This record gives sequence, structure tokens and C-alpha cells, in this order.
Amino acid sequence: MAEISTDIHRAINLLQAGEVVAIPTETVYGLAGNAIDPQVVSKIFEIKERPSFDPLIMHSDRLSKIESYLADIPEPLAHLLSIYSPGPLTVLLKRKSSVPDITCSGLEKVAVRIPSHPVTRALLEAIDFPLAAPSANPFGYISPTTAQHVQDQLGDKIRMILDGEASAIGLESTVIDWRDEMIVILRQGAVTAEDIRSHGYEVQLQASSSNPSSPGMLSSHYAPRTALSLDPLPAVLDHYDTEDIAYLGFRQNVQELPQDQQYLLSPSGNMQEAAQRLFALMRQLDQGPHKIIVCQLLPEEGLGRAINDKLRRAAHGSGI
Ligand code: TXA
Ligand code: MG
Repeated sequence: MAEISTDIHRAINLLQAGEVVAIPTETVYGLAGNAIDPQVVSKIFEIKERPSFDPLIMHSDRLSKIESYLADIPEPLAHLLSIYSPGPLTVLLKRKSSVPDITCSGLEKVAVRIPSHPVTRALLEAIDFPLAAPSANPFGYISPTTAQHVQDQLGDKIRMILDGEASAIGLESTVIDWRDEMIVILRQGAVTAEDIRSHGYEVQLQASSSNPSSPGMLSSHYAPRTALSLDPLPAVLDHYDTEDIAYLGFRQNVQELPQDQQYLLSPSGNMQEAAQRLFALMRQLDQGPHKIIVCQLLPEEGLGRAINDKLRRAAHGSGI
């Protein structure tokens, strides 16, 4: 099992020695290692069982520190970074050859993020290389939002999980690119399309496809092992016994099921709270006795859109 610890110095030593360490961020926990060392990056891919065509995000405490790895930064992305960084925004930037191919799957752009979590900022400030850090889950599963989530799935493959309590945002960062004079959102997150539009940019959501340019758009991502359905409850009740169903709602319980089979993301209807609790509740229900999790979508606005996107991907292929 990995050691769960708040000892930043130990994490720094391990990272400097070329080890992979799980780190807390405000979005989700990451599986971190030196982004500039191909051997370390290849360890990350191995531990996660991630296909090599799915590129990693390079994390640093500030953009100026990683300038030598980057070619020109388009003005709109620099502007959005100045507003939303440190924070849950990842931008695609043209890279120089000093970024190893394996880190960005040989693509001409590398994903860059400046996280805001204080523990990880202190860690990044102390090292002179950027960290490659995908979410610290086995490929295709729900992202971890606590140290224990990481321990449960990857604890036997890494030495240390740096503990920074539960991730405050709970959804992975928004990933954006600048193409044809437009901001393209490749992955929805806490920085929403509405946020970006409010600064005067045209925004396009890239539709999911089987050959995505951001592989996080794979339609079956984030899936629990238990079937997850977005079908109306009465339709599910035609196919399953009542006791086999768990209900994951937004703010209100439903009449058709006993109370103790129902879980609410935010009884007060707060979308931030819903996002923060989503992955932990999905994990909990996945481990429970139920055969199917029936989810209710949130209103299609702001953060609700990002949450619904996760729910739709998790439900992919498991409808009744
Ligand atoms: O919130 C987050 O971003 C977390 C924390 C740990 O920082 N990290 C994370 O990394 O979610 P990961 O590897 O699980 O997801 C990164 C996403 C993937 O969908 C990947 O395909 C996309 O970003 N991505 C990375 N580099 C890319 C590139 N050069 N071009 C297109 N998509 C890219
Ligand atoms: Mg991930």
C-alpha cells in the first residue's frame, strides 16, 4: 500500500529521484512525475494502464517557469490564463522539442495547467521541472477526489500519496484550444463556456466522437462498473426489482423508491456542491449492492452542463 502523508518534502524527494507520486489538486488527484523525463512519463502510463495515444497535462506553478518548452502563446489563451490561472483551466500550446514526445503523444501541442491547490503549489515551487499528471485513476474509471480513492485503486503501484484533503472542485479541469479564431472546449469543467464567452470570445464545444482530438472526449470515459442509467425511473422499474436500484438525484428525492436507496448531489440545489460530491458518490454507489444507478441530469447551464457531460459518458452503453 502507498503511504498517505502530508509530508511535502518527502514528495519532493521522491519526484526528484524520478518516482511517481499522487498529488492533490483543486480539481481531482493527479498521478505526477517529471514531465521532461521520458522514463518517468512512461511509468505514469504503465501505472494508469493508459494508452500511449492519450496525452498528459504539464503542470507548473507559473507559466514563466516553463516558457522554454513552449512556442508562441496565442493572445486569447494568454488572456484566459491570466484570468483563470492558477485554477481549473488547461490550455493547449505549441511546444518545443524539449517536451518529450511521450508526454504529449507526439502531438504538436502540449496541454498546460497551473493548479491552485496550496499543497501542490508549494510542491511545484520547490522543483525545477514541470509535472505530468493525469487523473490518478486506472484508465477509463472515475477520477479520484480524495487520497483514499487513489489508495483504493493504485495504492499497490505507487509509494506515496500526498494528502491534500478532498478536492474542492471535484471535476477535471476545462481543456481549451485556440483554433480558427475560436476557443474550442475539448473537455468541460469548472471554467464554463458561459465564463469564456463573457470575455468576448466565440466558443465551440467539440462534440464527442470515436476519434477525438482530446481523448478525454472518449464517450465511455468516467464509467463506474455498475450500470448507470439516465432513463426515467418508471422505465427502469419495468426492468429491475426495486431493491436493485440506487437513485442519484440533484436536489430532490423521488416517490418511487425507498429513501435509503436515494442519494442527492446537493439538497440545496448548489451546482458547485454537486460537482464536488459527484465522483465520490459515484464511487460509493458503484461499491454498493445495487445493480443499476439511475441518475437525474442537472439543468443544462453553467457547471450543470459539465456535470451532465460526465453523467452521459458514465451512462454510455448501459441504458436499459
Ligand atoms: O484537472 C485535471 O486536469 C487533472 C489534474 C490532475 O490536473 N488532470 C487530468 O489529466 O484530468 P488527464 O490526463 O486525466 O486528462 C487530460 C485530458 C485528456 O482528455 C487528454 O486527452 C487531454 O487532456 N489532452 C492532454 N494533452 C492534449 C493535447 N496535446 N491535445 C489534445 N488533448 C489533450
Ligand atoms: Mg483522466
